[in-house]
Amino acid sequence: MPRYLVTSALPYANGPIHFGHVAGAYLPADVYVRYLKMAKGPENVLYVCGTDEHGVAITLKAEQEGVGYRAYVDRWHSEIRSLFDRFGIEFDTFSGTSRCAFHADASRKFFSVLLERGFVFAKTEKQWFSEQSARFLPDRYLQGGCPQCGFAKARGDECPDCGSWIDARELQNPVSLIDGSSPVLKATKHWFLDLPKLQQAGLDSWYRGNDENHPVHPWKPNVQGHVQAMLRDLHARPITRDLPWGVKLPEGLEGAEGKVLYVWFDAPIGYISATMEWAAAQGTPDAWMDWWQKEDTRLVHFIGKDNIAFHVVVFPSMLLGQEDAWQGKPFVMPWAVPANEFYNLQGRKFNTSSGWYLDNDSFFAQYNPDAARFHVLMSAPETADSEFSWPEFQVTNNNLLADKVGNLASRVLKFLDKRFGSCVPEVAKEPTAAILAVRGHQALQDADAAFAAIAGFLENFEFRKATQHLIAGCTALNQFFDAMEPWIKIKGSQAGDWECCVETLERCVAYLELLSRRIAPFCPTTAGKLRNMLGAVAETHVASAWGEENVAQAPATLPAGLRIGNVEMLFLKIEDEQISAEIAKLEASASAAAE
Ligand code: MF3
Ligand code: ZN
Repeated sequence: MPRYLVTSALPYANGPIHFGHVAGAYLPADVYVRYLKMAKGPENVLYVCGTDEHGVAITLKAEQEGVGYRAYVDRWHSEIRSLFDRFGIEFDTFSGTSRCAFHADASRKFFSVLLERGFVFAKTEKQWFSEQSARFLPDRYLQGGCPQCGFAKARGDECPDCGSWIDARELQNPVSLIDGSSPVLKATKHWFLDLPKLQQAGLDSWYRGNDENHPVHPWKPNVQGHVQAMLRDLHARPITRDLPWGVKLPEGLEGAEGKVLYVWFDAPIGYISATMEWAAAQGTPDAWMDWWQKEDTRLVHFIGKDNIAFHVVVFPSMLLGQEDAWQGKPFVMPWAVPANEFYNLQGRKFNTSSGWYLDNDSFFAQYNPDAARFHVLMSAPETADSEFSWPEFQVTNNNLLADKVGNLASRVLKFLDKRFGSCVPEVAKEPTAAILAVRGHQALQDADAAFAAIAGFLENFEFRKATQHLIAGCTALNQFFDAMEPWIKIKGSQAGDWECCVETLERCVAYLELLSRRIAPFCPTTAGKLRNMLGAVAETHVASAWGEENVAQAPATLPAGLRIGNVEMLFLKIEDEQISAEIAKLEASASAAAE
């Protein structure tokens, strides 16, 4: 049994996370992990995340607000954690790169090993320096004339006017966006990750699937498109910065004073240091190696498309460049990187400062988090950018979750409550042809096929299809209930009517129990409610086990007499007025921000 080590991109401790982030890198991972724990056993799955707490953006933001770096990242760390809680996203460990006691040492060791083995080299170059603030200026905090077209407000990294890529040193009459001063060029030493060398040393062969020890799941087309272009023209990248906040370089390194590791170098090591911290907290400090060094580990990185290069080129290079420096064993390489495209909000990008966002507090005060999860998955940006739209959310909530899922449970269980005293009735021991026809009804076979397909889609990172099949299974079961007309059969005078009615109810209840496990990864709270409604019927199967039903197969006949629990509504409908109010509110917040 392979073990699954699942990560979601470490969010920057620099602002709130919104639905767009959730749709891209967190919710699909949470669903995947919940499914894997049920299907493969929780001991074979570890889900690691935390906040990304370094980098120039965080450093400057904290300074602007006049808050200490530590206090600044602490505040966002807890804020982000509580947002994940609301979406029901559950990590095995949620750390942070400046709070994890293992992180700085692990990052420095990564750096030193790469340096020793010739995969990192030093170079001294001139960079813009603000004498006023006594600091080197990052490219994007410089403004000046474009060396190509002369546009006066070009940035140090690119020109918004002619679109050309700029070498910051060629910027004309640059001005520091941090303090408004005119910077001077000053020599500074930096360390570079030799990506072309690492490409030769194994990155290419791993990426192409030719490395026997490190297999890869077929790359998604969006990942391939991005990475192939990059691999054709790979350059060394600087992995150090002149900044007051970050992981300091190893001691005793000439010229390292005042420098820290580049945030994109230390951040992915956060996946490893968080695992070390988790292992130590479990009382098994060496257990992190089982996850990061055993060949049968499947390392899966859930990310948004802007993180592809770092997870498919840079971090894997860093891992393979460690060779045998860690207890004599190599690291595993990523097995899959199911990167998503972007998730927008009603035709525009999510953007808090321009008022185009969903307020998490108000959203979760009114709507069911499971409905939000299900809808976001149904519309996830798996192959192209996609979006959250209020009217579509209403359709998912009302027409799919309330009408198909919730209604199925309540009509079946209410009928059982009213007509059979809340107990599963005894089915015929010697089925007649009419009963066999109920049992073998096409709609039930359709439900079997739909529910059986879910696991394969989840294992292949096709979350949209997985949700569609869950709904298809419920649609088939509703059709079965309608076609069997148990409310007529129960009063029927024809021979066998009563037996057919009993058979119909027993089948529906058995399928509801199966549904409660199939829906669990998507809608965990709803799954729990449904199991409470099923009462003793739920005890026929362990809630936490997916079960063997990946082959299309009807659930076993329930023992007679099991008593169900209280019947509740699983999903409340959303009124049209609520939707128009939400749209009006969004537009108002956008125009307020524009003014
Ligand atoms: N903080 C980055 C972002 O939000 C993601 C970092 S992923 C890691 O885009 F691998 F570096 F941790
Ligand atoms: Zn230009």
